[in-house]
Amino acid sequence: MFTPYYRPRRLRRNDAIRELVRETNLSVNDLILPLFVVEGENIKNPISSMPGNDQLSIDLLIKEVREVYNLGIRSIILFGIPDQKDATGSDAVNEKGIIQRAVMAVKEAVPEMYVITDVCFCEYTDHGHCGAIVDGHVDNDTTLQMLSDQVITHARAGADMVAPSGMMDGMVGAIRKGLDDNNFENIPIMSYAAKYASGFYGPFREAAESTPQFGDRRAYQMDPANSREAMYEVELDVNEGADIIMVKPALSYLDIIHKVKTQINLPVAAYNVSGEFSMVKAAAKLGWIDEQKVAMEILTSIKRAGADLILTYYAKDAASWLNQ
Ligand code: PBG
Repeated sequence: MFTPYYRPRRLRRNDAIRELVRETNLSVNDLILPLFVVEGENIKNPISSMPGNDQLSIDLLIKEVREVYNLGIRSIILFGIPDQKDATGSDAVNEKGIIQRAVMAVKEAVPEMYVITDVCFCEYTDHGHCGAIVDGHVDNDTTLQMLSDQVITHARAGADMVAPSGMMDGMVGAIRKGLDDNNFENIPIMSYAAKYASGFYGPFREAAESTPQFGDRRAYQMDPANSREAMYEVELDVNEGADIIMVKPALSYLDIIHKVKTQINLPVAAYNVSGEFSMVKAAAKLGWIDEQKVAMEILTSIKRAGADLILTYYAKDAASWLNQ
């Protein structure tokens, strides 16, 4: 019989040694919670495909932010869903739009909460695309001007950081210039740099009411089959002045997260998107998996792959599990 000389199991014999040699430690400091805000008062519309997540009116959003802050979560990303959508998503650039008022209210109620805004048009347009439609297509350069107008209103409202997610060419440069020209040179940009045209966004589109009314997003979001192209996108955003690089989704793209981490010297964010969350919720509800174990394993794997920041609908649960 072969008797091994090397025995890796020696370092797995009890909790104490396992903890000493653990290479990845998830912390509540890594987590960013996405929240959805709608018009009205005392509104809490549960998002059926994302149990535990709701569309909230500003008054209830503030309550939620207080609770979240007390759990130790120091950062949120806000998505605004206006009552009235139109072809150009005009609420998105209105100083008194839903997102602008939400940011102001949150910063007033909980000034220590770090507030990031999603910068895009799909939640605001009646056609559900991420920019202006010209001749049946999302027009890149028209959208750049709109994005620049949009971020300035976010910054004026008090946003701490902006996160463009529309995958327009030049979006980071256009936004950086818009911010700098308006004395917001200290507002960082977290770019959804490598964002894929993914089936995993399904539940989010219920949450944000942003399903495209015609076609899909493959003319601007990336092909899931591509990896080198992701690095090209990332390099462009670095050159245009991005401060943080995001990869999205996370779970099917751990290789991309890892590659960005090893090749680029900026913080890396990963978006553990709605479909990744809903799959775990659904399987847990059926009793097929242990929710806490699987959710924490997923978040740890995203961090192990190289993410410094993780946007996740599991932020609240993870914070309470980490506090246990
Ligand atoms: C676009 C945006 C989307 C998500 C975040 N920002 C949707 C899309 O591109 O269709 C998806 C997030 C998720 O699925 O959790 N504003």
